[in-house]
Amino acid sequence: KKVLFVTSELADLVKVGGLGDVSAALPRALSRYHWVRVMVPGYPQVINSGYPIQIIADLPGYAALPPCQIGRMTLEDGLTLYVVICPELYDRPGTPYGDSNGRDWPDNHIRFARFGLAAAALASGEVCPSWQPDLVHAHDWPAALTPAYMTWRGQHTPTVFTVHNLAYQGLCEMHCAVELGLPPEALNLDGVEFYGKLSFLKAGLTYADHITTVSKTYAEEITAPEMGCGLHGLLSQRAENQQLSGFVNGIDKCWDPQTDSHLIQNFSAGEWEARHANTRYVEQLFGLQPSEGPLFAIVSRLVEQKGLDLLPGVIEQIIAGGGRLVVLGQGQPELEQMIAQLAQRFPEHVGFHRGFNEADARRMFAGSDFLLMPSRYEPCGLSQSYAQCFGSLPIAHRTGGLADTIEDDQTGFLFDEMTADSFAGAIERALNTYLLPPLLEAMRCKAMQAPQYWLQAAKPYAQLYHSLAEQSLFASL
Ligand code: ADP
Ligand code: GLC
Repeated sequence: KKVLFVTSELADLVKVGGLGDVSAALPRALSRYHWVRVMVPGYPQVINSGYPIQIIADLPGYAALPPCQIGRMTLEDGLTLYVVICPELYDRPGTPYGDSNGRDWPDNHIRFARFGLAAAALASGEVCPSWQPDLVHAHDWPAALTPAYMTWRGQHTPTVFTVHNLAYQGLCEMHCAVELGLPPEALNLDGVEFYGKLSFLKAGLTYADHITTVSKTYAEEITAPEMGCGLHGLLSQRAENQQLSGFVNGIDKCWDPQTDSHLIQNFSAGEWEARHANTRYVEQLFGLQPSEGPLFAIVSRLVEQKGLDLLPGVIEQIIAGGGRLVVLGQGQPELEQMIAQLAQRFPEHVGFHRGFNEADARRMFAGSDFLLMPSRYEPCGLSQSYAQCFGSLPIAHRTGGLADTIEDDQTGFLFDEMTADSFAGAIERALNTYLLPPLLEAMRCKAMQAPQYWLQAAKPYAQLYHSLAEQSLFASL
């Protein structure tokens, strides 16, 4: 089947978090079953990537959405991208969603409505008649208007919508509906209205034929009030109709400590000396003295979701246990400041780099003994799997995908309550394990085998596409 991925990030070119990883890896893993192409907005990182772009269509404006062009480009390994070219919306510095200070662009509703409508046009066959998709798979709120516009335009191609994070909803004022050209009959509780606002995410959840999310546990959690972000009613309804699935994320085959060229030294399970070369590098990088004690790491967006406000409550325990902590991340200013202050207070034991750095992130997974991930909620999480794969044991809150990918006391450590005490309990077990090298090494070996690669993890998606495409064929007869 021909499948169109609609996504606002693609790790090859532009990535903020795990969505970029999944959007890059999953289409490639699916290529043995289906023919997948990916649509992305024409950010500078895409347009200036050096790959030639062929313009294949001009799309007219619609309501307040400006006209745009659709370009086609092919990446090194043959993956074809459709690029929505509209410099006034996408040719901006910063991240896909905001300026370099992390402030969202005020016209994000226009930017991503334009994106969704362009995807609907491609789905109809009017843009690229030689490649009309049999199924459209949209990801997260920036792509969520795709199934909605398709429905309103009377298109019947089956659609899948994946929730990578229910907390990011793409809300705007109800009066924006006019700018986006939404039909009046959709502006209510059964359509896109959410507590008086217009919700992109809800549009995806309402109009897609099938919803998936990125772990089994999160799929259950979001049907209950605590984690349902106000959408649990709609989600339980869809779950009852067998239209909500949880498929745990896999990892790309590039996550292999034996071949990753970013590492200071490659290694496999058991080659701990070689692994240690990465530890020494990370210590140096963060200006810490070499030591016999354990090295804890954090590689994360610094946002409330990640639960790092628990850190001040456990840092002294880590240091008392002979440990050191290195943190790489950026995000909310108050969290950045809190971590910078820890680094100031404990200069010999805590190092902090504000920023985003793929190579250093990989070296930290390979060089640390433990990765801290006390996420308040975590749809899936990829960092813990990358850490495991590189022999660093995650210490994480038992929630969402963390609960599904970490086996407590086997491939990492889990804690139950979102409190510093509960977190400290898991850290204590990790410190004790560190004192028993045979146990530590056994756990490391097990963790390195734990993550599932996309080759396996893509199968449920392949099956879902197949059955939706069959159903729709049947319905059209
Ligand atoms: P989320 O998508 O919520 O941010 P995930 O764990 O699913 O969480 O994915 C995060 C991805 O982003 C991982 O690939 C992680 O290594 C990467 N990442 C996060 N922060 C940084 C950073 N500061 N530098 C490099 N990579 C980072
Ligand atoms: C989101 C989630 C994260 C997940 C990622 C990829 O950003 O926060 O848990 O792993 O998407 O699905």
